[in-house]
Amino acid sequence: IANGLGMTPPMGWNSWNHFHCDINEKMIKATADGLVSSGLAKLGYVYVNIDDCWAEKTRDCKGNLRPKKSTFPSGIKAVADYVHSKGLKLGIYSDAGYYTCSKTQPGSLGYEEQDAQTFASWNLLQDIDYLKYDNCFNDGSRPTIRYPVMTRALMKTGRPIYISLCEWGDLHPAEWGFNVGNSWRTTNDISDTWESMISKADENEVYAHLARPGGWNDPDMLEVGNGGMTENEYVVHFSLWAISKSPLLLGFDVANATATRAVAHIVGNEEVIRINQDPLGVQAKKTRMMGSREIWAGPISGYRFVVMLLNRADAGDDDTVTAYWDDVGIPAKSLVEVRDVWEHKTLGRAVAGNISATMPPRSCKLYILKPVG
Ligand code: DGJ
Repeated sequence: IANGLGMTPPMGWNSWNHFHCDINEKMIKATADGLVSSGLAKLGYVYVNIDDCWAEKTRDCKGNLRPKKSTFPSGIKAVADYVHSKGLKLGIYSDAGYYTCSKTQPGSLGYEEQDAQTFASWNLLQDIDYLKYDNCFNDGSRPTIRYPVMTRALMKTGRPIYISLCEWGDLHPAEWGFNVGNSWRTTNDISDTWESMISKADENEVYAHLARPGGWNDPDMLEVGNGGMTENEYVVHFSLWAISKSPLLLGFDVANATATRAVAHIVGNEEVIRINQDPLGVQAKKTRMMGSREIWAGPISGYRFVVMLLNRADAGDDDTVTAYWDDVGIPAKSLVEVRDVWEHKTLGRAVAGNISATMPPRSCKLYILKPVG
């Protein structure tokens, strides 16, 4: 949506993948601290997003949402102040239905204006910067009816609030989401397994042509660091999300310095982050599929291209994957400089015709190609 936000995919953290409903103000603040002390904030991870389970089960006598007393005793405004004082942004969560998915708090259906005001005015100067809007327990009407009501209410507040549509891809939000939000989920929930992760990337890829600055396809949040996948699998996960111009929302316990150090070389890889944040904002596509061998590619700024060589076999011997310049959209005879962004190495200037790599099952190579001469 044209609210000036999401000109590149949003980066930050969200509480759901690791903590589910087990959240409180202390750990949200500790997460903000963790983003700053680890250096991740400097790399662009600035949104601290509270997901489901932050509010009391009922509204107050005036119909306002109330932060849960037992877990957010100081209120969301105090959390917002803290997060903003660290130079970060705060995200909150609601639902286009009668309850949120956890059923522990009311949804915003019928209360859109009032809730948008609450989000925008918890504090006169420092409020909410991001709303994730879920789809549980709705009235059965189309999301294209219910979601724009909240969008209009948020726009009316005058506060720039990033709008994340969480409709799970049911009614092809990629096709209408650009007029309603800054990103839209194209899939149901990810879990911390290879099978889940790779299927979300596949489902999301179908809509690649509809992503652009201001509106992104969202295959759900990152699971890197939660322990369910191998090192190589997490590298594939992060690479796919980066080239797919997906929101990069960390889903592990960022307040835990040991956990953060263990994955800093993946989620803190600046070269890969820069691909995600490239100003051209074009989502990479599958350009060749050969059984378990795939090429994903797309343009980035400066007449450069990103290409991923993927071996998605589940087991077996190492396999060789080859991308031809044709697969990438570079004239076949071009001389090309190849940069390996995981190895942080430029492989010989001016490779002619193609690039090949041999790699184990469930792993990838990620290159930036720059035609030279
Ligand atoms: C469903 C969403 O898809 C998840 O990301 C999460 O927000 C949960 N609801 C919370 O209940």
